Amino acid sequence: MVRLLDSLKVGDITLKNRIVMPPMYTGFATKKGEVTEKLVDHYIDRCKNLGLLIIEHSYVAIEGKLSERQLGAYNESLISGLKKLSRRIQNMGTPVILQISHAGNRAMSDVTGIKKVSSSPNNQSHELESDEIKVIIQRFAKAAEWGIKAGFNGIEIHGAHGFLLNQFYSPITNKRSDQYGGCLENRLRFPLEVVREVKKKIRNKLLLYRLGSDDLDPRGTKIWESQIFAIKLENAGVNLIDVSGGICGSRPDILQGIQGYFVSQAQQIRKAVNVPIIGVGGIKEPEFANRLIEEEKVDLIAVGRQLFKDPDWATKTVERLKI
Ligand SMILES: Cc1cc2nc3c(=O)[nH]c(=O)nc-3n(C[C@H](O)[C@H](O)[C@H](O)COP(=O)(O)O)c2cc1C
Repeated sequence: MVRLLDSLKVGDITLKNRIVMPPMYTGFATKKGEVTEKLVDHYIDRCKNLGLLIIEHSYVAIEGKLSERQLGAYNESLISGLKKLSRRIQNMGTPVILQISHAGNRAMSDVTGIKKVSSSPNNQSHELESDEIKVIIQRFAKAAEWGIKAGFNGIEIHGAHGFLLNQFYSPITNKRSDQYGGCLENRLRFPLEVVREVKKKIRNKLLLYRLGSDDLDPRGTKIWESQIFAIKLENAGVNLIDVSGGICGSRPDILQGIQGYFVSQAQQIRKAVNVPIIGVGGIKEPEFANRLIEEEKVDLIAVGRQLFKDPDWATKTVERLKI
């Protein structure tokens, strides 16, 4: 039987266990998106005994910035700070991934000073033209290239929580009638173009996709669509799928208090593909996390807020589950 503390080989890397710290914004970067000592310390305090650490969402373009002190991956000049971050974490024995993101119409134009963009227009955002989409694809590809140059073991593309790629995937936010809207194949086009370009840049480094698998809205994405999406992600070279919420976000009110609240969706995605799946949502107890692995519901579990609160969660879990 596979257990939480068992290793897992993903791509060229062997993760020492199946505990993942998911990407979580800290607000510790500078206003230009640079790494600070405080940000490095935050991760150093938490990375011991993790199988994998995913660094918070980093914006690939200024107009896609969500908050004032968000980490950036939009410019080559940020590589040296990112390199310090990746090296310090790897020196603790933990592989580290950089999440890259574009917030689309969730960006804060008061922070960026630039009009928001999205799949479809509203009174605050402009509908991306196909040549603008191409530019954003290149921004993702460049951010990924710089992340790898900065020494990260891989890149996670943020395709969940109602951000830009999710805005294209979800029929709630995508009302387009061109090749990027309408049927499932068209709604997947932009996210998959991003995945393919990023894959070209990062080659054999790990590629993760954070999939917003369900909008929790009858007008939104359906799990069968996300299963098809996952198959296409696998075919495009994604090594790990990190299953979370769609337009409903990462912490929908109605699911709070339930341990493992997105795991049933992750389990559905897992049935469709061969790549390992990360399950997340309200996980607190080591035994509960271990059971999810033993019962083969998911391959890895991510623990977010609990690791924020208790930096030693992974260490305590390893102690407790060790035989
Ligand atoms: C403060 C905070 C910041 C977050 N930032 C991100 C982020 O940058 N990228 C992302 O994909 N999810 C983000 N999330 C969602 C978490 O990765 C995770 O999916 C969510 O908190 C549910 O897991 P948990 O119940 O273990 O905390 C954030 C969550 C919190 C609480």
